[in-house]
Amino acid sequence: MIQELEELRKKAESELATAGTEEEILTLKTKYLGRKGLLTGILRNISNVTPEQRPLFGKRSNEVKEELSARIDAALEVLAAKGADDALLRERIDVTLPGRGVKPGRIHPVIQVSWEICSIFSALGFSIAEGPEVEEDYYNFEALNIPKDHPARDMQDTFYVEDNIVLRTHTSPVQVRVMEKQRPPVRIISPGRVYRPDSDVSHTPMFHQIEGLLVDRGVTFGDLKGVLTSFLKQFFGEETTLRFRPSFFPFTEPSAEVDIQCVMCKGAGCRVCGQSGWLEILGSGMVDPAVFKNVGYDPDEFTGFAFGLGLERIAMLKYGITDIRLFFENDWRFLDQF
Ligand code: DAH
Repeated sequence: MIQELEELRKKAESELATAGTEEEILTLKTKYLGRKGLLTGILRNISNVTPEQRPLFGKRSNEVKEELSARIDAALEVLAAKGADDALLRERIDVTLPGRGVKPGRIHPVIQVSWEICSIFSALGFSIAEGPEVEEDYYNFEALNIPKDHPARDMQDTFYVEDNIVLRTHTSPVQVRVMEKQRPPVRIISPGRVYRPDSDVSHTPMFHQIEGLLVDRGVTFGDLKGVLTSFLKQFFGEETTLRFRPSFFPFTEPSAEVDIQCVMCKGAGCRVCGQSGWLEILGSGMVDPAVFKNVGYDPDEFTGFAFGLGLERIAMLKYGITDIRLFFENDWRFLDQF
């Protein structure tokens, strides 16, 4: 029996030597030391041992059990330590590599231009007014002296939401909304998004405008010229040359478009200004008496001027950008330059 015991021990030890994984070692542990294991089984047969040999057999059996158990535990520990080392190696990070960094946000160039223009007009005593982008036909057209079937509606292709609801094609409807609510004097500037179904290098279906309106007693075309000249010189530089060109808008009479000398070629003529030396910057005029009547102002008592300009166009000229679509791609490499 003792010999049987020793053989079992040797067998267990050699099996343990070849067990490479935790699973194999645990299986081996059950096989020999489990409640129905081989070593446990041999002890159960102690009745087959002669009474003289029993103490020795019992002692030896316990020794073998304890030894094997200790060896198994040691093997498991070695395996666990090796696993931890492997994991450290596998998961090692190189702390000397450069970090990924967090890019700071930027104010969009169109918004920067909007803020800059608003601050110039704030200093001139204008306050900011806003209006809805989904607008009634009445405010976008009718009240601005653009009746249905008026040819001027063709000047502004329109997104219709419903029969009499449009995406505003310009910021001019804000004029009407303000005048409906407020008696003169009125001095407002109104930045915002506008929409027209257009798309090419200088047009996007959504773009930004700023509208201005000043109404009081005794306002003249000279005031219009003075305010717009002051604004354009502050924005584009004191040396900027401008000209006022007669034009037409249904909501102003007389109307003028304002050009500045081309910022690219300084008037010599280039691709940007179409060889003319001039760049069209804004539309303006004296508020048409028909518009005043629509908001309940007496045109004999009050006069005023209004103007509107496109912000993307101004930003393109200011920063020398040749494709308007860059503003809306949100490419960080583009936005980071401002
Ligand atoms: N609303 C015009 C447009 O979108 C711009 C404009 C022209 C606004 C003359 C005005 C103005 O207030 O007086 O093309």
